Formats: sequence, structure tokens, C-alpha cells
Amino acid sequence: MRTSFLFSTSFIFYALVSGSLFSEFISPNFTASYHRFIDNKGAFLFSRNGTFKVAVFNPGGKTNFYLCVIHVASGTIIWSANRDAPISSSCKMELTVQGISIAGQDANLKWATPPLRSSVHALLLTEMGNLVLLDRFNGSLWESFHYPTDTIVIGQHLPEGAILSSAVSDDDLSTGDYQLAITDSDAILQWQGQAYWKLSMDIRAYKNSNYIVEYMAINRTGLFLFGHSGSAVVIQISLSPSDFRTAQLGASGRFMIRRFSGSDREQEFLGPINDCQIPLICGKIGLCMDNKSNRTTCSCPQGFHRVSQNSSGCMPNGRSLPRACDSTSQLNPSALSYSRLGYDMDYFSIDFSEPVRYGVNLSVCQEFCTSDCSCLGIFYANSSGSCYALENDLGSIISSAADDDDDLWGYIKVIVGAASDINNTYSDQTQQFPVIALVLLPFTGLLLMVALGFLWWRRWKASNREIKLGHASSLSSGDLDAFHIPGLPQRFDYEGIEVATDNFKTQIGSGGFGAVYKGTMPDKSVVAVKKITNLGVQGKKDFCTEIAVIGSIHHVNLVKLRGFCAQGRHRLLVYEYMNRGSLDKALFDSGLVLEWQERFEIALGTARGLAYLHTGCEQKIIHCDVKPENILLHDQFQAKISDFGLSKLLSPEQSCLFTTMRGTRGYLAPEWLTNSAISEKTDIYSFGMVLLEIVSGRKNCSTRSQCHSVDNRNSGGGHSTSSSRSGVVYFPLLALEMHEQGRYMELADPRLEGRVSSEEVEKLVRIALCCVHEEPSLRPNMVSIVGMLEGCIPLGQPKVGSLNFLRFYGRRFAEASMIEQENGQSDFTLFPQANDSTTSTTSDSRICLSYISSQQISGPR
Ligand SMILES: *[C@@H]1O[C@H](CO)[C@@H](O)[C@H](O)[C@H]1NC(C)=O
Ligand SMILES: *[C@@H]1O[C@H](CO)[C@@H](O)[C@H](O)[C@H]1NC(C)=O
Ligand SMILES: *[C@@H]1O[C@H](CO)[C@@H](O)[C@H](O)[C@H]1NC(C)=O
Ligand SMILES: *[C@@H]1O[C@H](CO)[C@@H](O)[C@H](O)[C@H]1NC(C)=O
Ligand SMILES: *[C@@H]1O[C@H](CO)[C@@H](O)[C@H](O)[C@H]1NC(C)=O
Ligand SMILES: *[C@@H]1O[C@H](CO)[C@@H](O)[C@H](O)[C@H]1NC(C)=O
Ligand SMILES: *[C@@H]1O[C@H](CO)[C@@H](O)[C@H](O)[C@H]1NC(C)=O
Ligand SMILES: *[C@@H]1O[C@H](CO)[C@@H](O)[C@H](O)[C@H]1NC(C)=O
Ligand SMILES: *[C@@H]1O[C@H](CO)[C@@H](O)[C@H](O)[C@H]1NC(C)=O
Ligand SMILES: *[C@@H]1O[C@H](CO)[C@@H](O)[C@H](O)[C@H]1NC(C)=O
Repeated sequence: MRTSFLFSTSFIFYALVSGSLFSEFISPNFTASYHRFIDNKGAFLFSRNGTFKVAVFNPGGKTNFYLCVIHVASGTIIWSANRDAPISSSCKMELTVQGISIAGQDANLKWATPPLRSSVHALLLTEMGNLVLLDRFNGSLWESFHYPTDTIVIGQHLPEGAILSSAVSDDDLSTGDYQLAITDSDAILQWQGQAYWKLSMDIRAYKNSNYIVEYMAINRTGLFLFGHSGSAVVIQISLSPSDFRTAQLGASGRFMIRRFSGSDREQEFLGPINDCQIPLICGKIGLCMDNKSNRTTCSCPQGFHRVSQNSSGCMPNGRSLPRACDSTSQLNPSALSYSRLGYDMDYFSIDFSEPVRYGVNLSVCQEFCTSDCSCLGIFYANSSGSCYALENDLGSIISSAADDDDDLWGYIKVIVGAASDINNTYSDQTQQFPVIALVLLPFTGLLLMVALGFLWWRRWKASNREIKLGHASSLSSGDLDAFHIPGLPQRFDYEGIEVATDNFKTQIGSGGFGAVYKGTMPDKSVVAVKKITNLGVQGKKDFCTEIAVIGSIHHVNLVKLRGFCAQGRHRLLVYEYMNRGSLDKALFDSGLVLEWQERFEIALGTARGLAYLHTGCEQKIIHCDVKPENILLHDQFQAKISDFGLSKLLSPEQSCLFTTMRGTRGYLAPEWLTNSAISEKTDIYSFGMVLLEIVSGRKNCSTRSQCHSVDNRNSGGGHSTSSSRSGVVYFPLLALEMHEQGRYMELADPRLEGRVSSEEVEKLVRIALCCVHEEPSLRPNMVSIVGMLEGCIPLGQPKVGSLNFLRFYGRRFAEASMIEQENGQSDFTLFPQANDSTTSTTSDSRICLSYISSQQISGPR
């Protein structure tokens, strides 16, 4: 009470002294210095509600003063004018009709607003924190929001091509080395032109569309990259609602979003999470070791030493380092050499950059670097022959000891003293050869010795490599096809996953590929781990190529792949955990009834997810296994499709087995039976079948549920002879019949007791029938289906001619069910084909719609 009283009285006093009232405006011919407003901590302008203030301020109580916009409650500096030209406490900022200027000692101009198109009438601080110079008509002449420093706030747009630059430290606001750049598809953190983090690759980011990014913004509920004139979200991070938050590129190089309530601040988002991914975390060529539970530690790679006690960077022993494209790089190539870094080294930019050369050998890679003055080092992936250049400046090296199969070799370009220098290029191993040769040379003929030495060296090197290979193969069963694929999601080691799942204790499901377990990661996030057992051992590289594709697909309605493990014979996929289980449980299990609105949301979400798979990704992805078991539910009944992209992991032989496994459901399109091409229209058929189940709340081909209600209807209507026989209903046929009679409401789940929207029931049924047209080309595509569900595209009219096959299916279904009931036998054949002999050998034949032999299906490839 007392302090706030003092504060306000002193403020009013100064407001009066300075001739202006407590206002969001200041008129020209105004000057301010820290001293002049010292009792107000340098502040002289407040936004209307006092949320923000403008002050000549010295962060951390240091002697550097800046003209800042400050969030009052939290004390956060959201903008500074003269970040690279600080002034002292007595120096002034001045507002004139020409704009704002800041003068240092001796009236040196330190900073000024650019020339303006007309004279300034007022300076305004808006309630959002935007400092605006206004003309006579209250038009904006200049805005601080257009010149962001390291922070944006709610209401501010960071357009494509713009950057945020970190400050050097919290006290020193001058421009630091790290940048956040908005590109046409992403937000990227970079250092010296080398990327080290991408928003789209963060676990919490969702990709919503493929529009060109126009700007980044934060609002009360998240961070967004917008495209399509601001009407479409391209990438988003959802955050809990907050009235004030900032997105800042911190001095440490981490991009963080923080929210403030009162004076409490809470960090909501941080990227990158892994400290070793920050370019200068350990100084130049410092070696960063991620100690898992412990904090990261810094050291120097072997053959390098600390630059000085105080700084963490490292220097090669007995060598000097060239700098990018200055005089030291004009050296004769023979004066340049390469110091090899130890094994299992990685570099922050490699995951984010393309190799400068593909499929080359190490010498070609080094020659590239030698001839390019901006190249200061290389990383070379032996198995793929990818050559990555470290350009402009060198950052820290990452020790990736946990990664057993990265075969990246790192080399730092160094300047050698003399050509005869024996500490030459290729690693520790080579050092011993010349030493021995030097000892022996005087005693024998030069050529002979060199030849013998060379042979010995080759053998020695080979045996050495065998030792390494032998060691590695115990981990990875011989397939040391190590490689590096950009875009690969996080790689986990098997031991870590064992710990996370408590030795695969809690099984939460099982699918065509293997069992799914619940796990908790060290960061306390809950995951679902799919242990793939039905693949056999697949080449690690093929596996990872597919994983990179799956991992790069982000959409709100697709379950996100967090990472994977490919170690030895183990193949595991780590997904985000969906706390509400799968749609089949929510829909078919007794207990709580899914309300209609939730069902509609689920239908729409699923449609959006499939539309993204079919059209939103670089390569079209056909799911091949759309069914309620693969539609998972998250908070608020948000639907997320799982298991997409997995069919590509299968070899052709396996895919037959696989489709047979999948054939046990009622979602397979007729073309699976007829050898026709499998296309995205196959997914649409399955989606239609799922829609019908969403409407009815029962399996399309269940033999038991709700027979009575159907019987009643049939005895009254007398029309639907084929759909019901001894209580057996093939629901898609019933749907067709009810559609023909316009009696949609009778299809809705009776458990809802009429709590449905009749319009939406009709909509879902009609869309579903369009989806299950026998002729694939008559089925609408997924994008139109989303449009129909959303109501912006007129509903399609189901074509009865292409739906008559349902009558046939329905009859077979009823007959088969009767045989089953009479014989008490669970095996029955629904649709014997011409080549029936093949079908009778399949063991799992309790098939609802189709009975599929491996010969009949070649699989979607
Ligand atoms: C500001 O000062 C200039 C000259 O010092 C004067 O011409 C001008 O009228 C003043 N403007 C205002 C708004 O007081
Ligand atoms: C200022 O505060 C009042 C009362 O809290 C609120 O109604 C008004 O919307 C605020 N003004 C702005 C510009 O935020
Ligand atoms: C400019 O805005 C202020 C405050 O909103 C208002 O008082 C003034 O009349 C406006 N001037 C013009 C020319 O619109
Ligand atoms: C934030 O922006 C997103 C994307 O435009 C929008 O969906 C959301 O409703 C906005 N949140 C608020 C609170 O305005
Ligand atoms: C952490 O790093 C230090 C130094 O490299 C090492 O000695 C120690 O064993 C590591 N601890 C763990 C738990 O890995
Ligand atoms: C580092 O790890 C060791 C052993 O795991 C533990 O005892 C120590 O407390 C950890 N130190 C920190 C700073 O976490
Ligand atoms: C290193 O730090 C010590 C004290 O921490 C200081 O006296 C010394 O000047 C520093 N050396 C360099 C090169 O910065
Ligand atoms: C060669 O390297 C060793 C350590 O790796 C170093 O001690 C020695 O000084 C180097 N020799 C020359 C000539 O640079
Ligand atoms: C590397 O490749 C180049 C060109 O492909 C070839 O001329 C050279 O002999 C190769 N070097 C080695 C060591 O294999
Ligand atoms: C490097 O790759 C080549 C060709 O892929 C292979 O023959 C060689 O064994 C690899 N070397 C090592 C050390 O892995």
C-alpha cells in the first residue's frame, strides 16, 4: 500500500513536472532521460491501462541505458530502440516533429527513427505494447512492432523474411549471434547462417496446411504460422489461454514462449530442448556431452585443447584454424589439412542442412572443403557418401556416444606448419605408421620399406576396423548400414525405451504390427510404444527412410510419431499417447454413450486427417487400414488417425499376409477382391464404412445388437426383405434402404434416444453411401468430403446403381450368419470367389465382408 502510494504520488509529481499528463500520448518537443524520470525508473509513457511503459532503462542495474518498451507487471523488456548503441543515465531521448532520436555523450546521435513521410503529431504507446508515431490524422508513421528485436507479443506479426535476433545477455541488449528467421514454410533458429532448430520438427508443433507462410504470431491460445492471407494456419503450437505472453529468442539461443499472470512467469515452450543442439553451448569446437539425467558437460575433442582457462572453446594441438574467407584462407591447398574428430561425433546443423555432395568418397568431400574458403570443416557419412560442410564459423561438436550406428566422421580444417608435418590428416591410426617408417628407413631400401609399410598399415587398419565392426555388430546384428537421413525424428535407444515402459509392462493394445505399450519418458510425457514384431528384420536404412517420411507428417488429426528405435533386431515406434483410447471402444463398448456432437466432430477430424494424408503431404499416403481401432481419441474427443504410412514398411510378401490380417474387418473395399488398383479411393470406402458405424454405434456386420428394433421396422415396412433375417442385419444395406425411403433418423444409434441432429444424420449417411460406391471413381475425394461435412460443398447424391452390391453382401451375410448359428461354427465363407480353392486355406476366416487370399491381393505399393 505504502509503496504504491509513494509510487503514484511521485509519478503524478513527475508527470506534472514534465508538463504532460498520465497519458498514452506524448507530443513533440519532449525530452526524457533516466535522471529526469529517475523516481519512476526512467518511465515516461504508459499505455492506456498501464500494461506497458516506455522507459530509459538499464537492465540488470548496469551502466548501459536503452530506450525500452517494458511490460509493467513482469518487468519484461519487449522492445529496445538503441540496442547496439547504449547511452548513459544522463543522455536523452528526444521526440521532435522529425521523430525520435537518442543522443549519447557530446550530443552524438546514437539512434533515430528513419525519415518519415510527414511530421509527427504524437507518440503513442498502445495497450498491446506497440510504440507508434502518429501524424495529424492519427495515421501511423512508424511502429516499433515493425522493427522487432528479440521478442514478439500478442498482436504483433513477424512476417516472412523477418528475423528476431537474440541479445548478447539479459543485461546487454546488443545484437547477439542467434536468429529466428521466418521462412516461407517454417520458423528456423540459425547461427552464422546454419540452422539448428526448426519449429516444424518440434514435438509440440502441428502442421495444419501447406500454404506459404506469411507471418508468425502468438495469441491467447498459441503460436501460429499463418498463410493464405492470414486465413489458414500452417503450423501451430497450442498453449493454454493466457492474456499476456511473449515469444522470445533468448540470449542463450533458445526460443521460448512464456506466459505471465501478475508477476508470475511460466515457461510454456522451449526449443531446442537438447542443450547440445545449441551452436555455441561449449564454445568453438567444444565437445558437448548430453549426460541424460545430468546436465550437459563440455570438454575438448581428442587432439584439441582449451583456448584459455576462461573460455570454453577448443584449439587443435600444434595447429591453427583458418577463418572463413580471410587472408588465412588464401593459403595454398597443401598448407591445409584436416584434423579428425573422434568417433560418434555429430554437429548441430547436420539434421537441418542438405549435404553439399552426395555419394562421394572422403577425399572428394575434403577437396570440396579445401577449395571453398567459407568451409571450415566437414562431416562425412561414410555409408551414404553424404558430405556436409561446416561453413562461416565453427560451433560446438556434439558427442553422440549413445547413438550406436551413426557413421558420421567429422574433420576440422587446420593450417599445417610445414608440408612434412607428420601430424597429418587421417586420424590417430595413421600416426603410428610414419613413426615406424622413420625408424626403419635408414636400414633398408626406401621403396621396399614404403611398400611393406603400406601393406602392413592396410592390414593393421583393416584388423582395427574389424574390431570395431565386431563390437558394433553385437548391437546391430551385422547390418551396420549406418547412415544419416535428414528429417529423421528422434532416435531412442532400446534401453531407454525399456526403462520408459517399465520393461513393457503395460500393454494398451495390439495391432497388425505388434503390441502397443504405455510408457513414460524422462520428461514425464506419456507415450505409446509400438513394438514391431511382424516385420521380420528389415534393413535399417529402408526402415529409417520410411520413418523419416512418417515422422515429417504433422497434422492435428494424425497421431504424432515422436521417435523410433532401430537397434539390432528391435524396431520400435514411439507415438504420443492418446488418453481416451480408440474409437471402437468409445463406440461399441457398453458404458458411456458417445454423444452425437462428439461423433460428428470425430467424423470431421478423421476426414481432415485422411484428406491431409491424401493431398497434404509431399507424397500421397494411402492408409489402407481405416477402421475405428485406428482412430484414437484425445481430449475433447479430438480424433487422431494412427498407423498411417506403416504399410510401406512391408515387403511385398509381407503385405499379403498383412492385408489378409486386415481382411478380418468390414472395411475393405470391393477392389481388394478384384485385383483392381488400390488407390486413395480404397481409404474412402473404409471411411464410409466407419461413418455408418459412427451413426449407428454398432459394428456394420455384428450379428447381435439391436435386432429387435430392426425387426419391428421390417415387419412394418415390408420392404427390406434382404436386410434382416433372424435378427441379422448388414447395416450398410439397411442404410441404403433407409436412404431410399428418406428415413435417416431410424439409422441413428438408439442409445442416443433422439439426441441427434437429423440434418447431420442425413449428411453422414449420404456421405457414407457416396463413399462406398462400388465404382471407385464415383466415390468423392477426401477434400470434398471435408467440404460436405463442413457444409461448404453441397451433399453428394448416392448412386443406387453403384450400391446394389450391398444387397448381395447383405444376403450373403445373413445366410452366413444363419449357418453359423445353426452349426455353432465360427468359420464361414462369405464371398467364395471363382478361384475358391485359394481361399479355403486361410486359417483366420471369420470374415465379415470379404474373404481374401494372399494371391488375390498384391497390396498397395
Ligand atoms: C517544437 O519546437 C520547435 C522549435 O524548437 C517549434 O518550431 C515548434 O513549434 C515546437 N512544436 C511544438 C508542438 O511545440
Ligand atoms: C482497459 O481496462 C478496462 C477495464 O479493465 C477494459 O475494459 C478495457 O478493455 C481495457 N482497454 C484496453 C485497450 O485493453
Ligand atoms: C486522434 O486520437 C485521439 C485519441 O484517440 C483523439 O482524441 C483525437 O481526436 C484523434 N485525432 C484525429 C484527427 O482523429
Ligand atoms: C488464435 O489464433 C488461432 C488461429 O487463427 C485461432 O484459431 C484462435 O481462436 C485464436 N485464439 C484466440 C483466443 O483468439
Ligand atoms: C557424465 O559426464 C561425466 C563427464 O563426461 C562422466 O564422467 C559421467 O560418468 C557422466 N555421468 C553419467 C550419468 O552418464
Ligand atoms: C549427476 O548424476 C549423478 C549420478 O547419476 C548424481 O549423483 C548427481 O546428483 C547428478 N548431478 C546433477 C547435478 O544432476
Ligand atoms: C580469466 O579469468 C580471470 C579471473 O576469473 C581473470 O583474472 C583473467 O583476466 C581472465 N583471463 C582472460 C584471458 O580473460
Ligand atoms: C603432433 O600432435 C601431438 C599431439 O597430437 C602434439 O603433441 C605435437 O606437438 C604435434 N606435432 C606437431 C609438429 O605439431
Ligand atoms: C574418390 O572419388 C574420385 C572421383 O570419384 C576418384 O577419382 C578417387 O580416386 C576416389 N578416391 C579414393 C581414395 O577412392
Ligand atoms: C565406408 O564405406 C565403404 C563403402 O560404402 C565401405 O566399403 C567401408 O567399409 C566403409 N568404411 C567404414 C570404416 O565403415
